[in-house]
Amino acid sequence: MDRLRIRGGYPLMGEIPISGAKNAALPLMAAGLLSADGLTLENVPHLADIASMTALLRELGAEINAESVIDGQGETLKIQARRIENIEAPYDIVRKMRASVLVLGPLVARKGEAKVSLPGGCAIGNRPVDLHLMALECMGAHIELESGYIHAFAPKGLKGGRIAFPTVSVGATENAMMAASLAVGETTILNAAREPEILDLAQCLIGMGAVIEGAGTDKIRISGKSQLSHTTHSVVPDRIETGTFAMAAAMTGGDVELVGAKIGHIQSAAAILREAGVTLTETERGCRVTRTTDKLIGVDVMTEPYPGFPTDLQAQFVALMTAATGASMVTETIFENRFMHVPELKRMGANINVHGSSALVRGIDRLKGAPVMATDLRASVSLVLAGLAAEGETIVNRIYHLDRGYDRVEKKLGACGAKIIRERET
Ligand code: EPZ
Repeated sequence: MDRLRIRGGYPLMGEIPISGAKNAALPLMAAGLLSADGLTLENVPHLADIASMTALLRELGAEINAESVIDGQGETLKIQARRIENIEAPYDIVRKMRASVLVLGPLVARKGEAKVSLPGGCAIGNRPVDLHLMALECMGAHIELESGYIHAFAPKGLKGGRIAFPTVSVGATENAMMAASLAVGETTILNAAREPEILDLAQCLIGMGAVIEGAGTDKIRISGKSQLSHTTHSVVPDRIETGTFAMAAAMTGGDVELVGAKIGHIQSAAAILREAGVTLTETERGCRVTRTTDKLIGVDVMTEPYPGFPTDLQAQFVALMTAATGASMVTETIFENRFMHVPELKRMGANINVHGSSALVRGIDRLKGAPVMATDLRASVSLVLAGLAAEGETIVNRIYHLDRGYDRVEKKLGACGAKIIRERET
């Protein structure tokens, strides 16, 4: 297994290219199953999760060809699902990547049947999929759960329905949108997720011929079509990568331009960072990040569905607050177990106490480097950020978690002066 060796104390200076969003690319790839004419996706990030989704789509019978373009511009994927020979997404693939459940809606819509392993829990929570199933049942699908698998049937096809989500779910909204695009009649989704990745998926589906209104709001209306056609769609820049590297620049007292970033997609996080003493300025190419004050200031934050502060930036923000002046109360409202970065940060000297869904961070002068263990994707990157600012050397082990969601993180940070190398764990 690989690990990262980081020597802290070097301000990040220069520019970091922002890749296409993992959490947009994954549903977009699943949307490739909806059309026999194929789908071309540009600006797809180089990530382990993209490779997993590629393997799953091939398992279902799709052809996928990747063309790497100019380095750092991501790759172009040509997905061709002319025939779907297999309607089963097996446990050994789904358990490694929960987003595999996003093939459920497209398979039922296109083939009238799907057999998808229940994803099971993961490090950050038990991650149920009941809302995904409810959405399909509202469109007339019959669902059976047996031996750990979801078996969904719609032999006569799906029909438009009214889906009122009791809680906001990104994945369930995406599955519903994709299924409704091929259902007969109109579907209304209430309490829909509003993330930029939802809007990106809608724009791609519209490009394929779907009729969708209201994406990006909490009410989405979709008129189903009998078939969808080919389109070429470029993946939206990754707002979580943007927020992550903005915090890296702030933690090290650096000055970095995030090229390709859309500051409009991180408004809540940007507002909190500005309160904490970070300057974010929109530039022609993206966003420039510097620190306004010589010490960051402790600020409270609560994670919420978009457009609130994103749960996927919570671990990184906790790391940012460890050396701030004063205290910061960080409350996680989306997932039930998303503080696994805390014990590792405490090994670096951080003063953090977790009470239920809140972590109270009291700023110290400076973290001390130490060997630490990555546990999940965002916890991993928060340890990298901590290592960049800490005194001395930090070793982040098990960075396969990191590679799921960050495209060449050591290259991007190293190009801005970070002392960070990847090595094989002996
Ligand atoms: C997506 O996960 C993202 N993943 C997550 O990013 C992100 O943290 C999450 O949205 C919230 O923004 C992808 O897009 C691939 P949800 P998803 O359904 O769709 C509960 C990362 O680090 N829920 O919005 O699985 C659920 O337990 C990952 O990149 C149900 O109860 O999240 C959670 O408490 C982590 N029943 C809440 O809703 C359901 O059927 C929000 O989950 C579905 C979800």
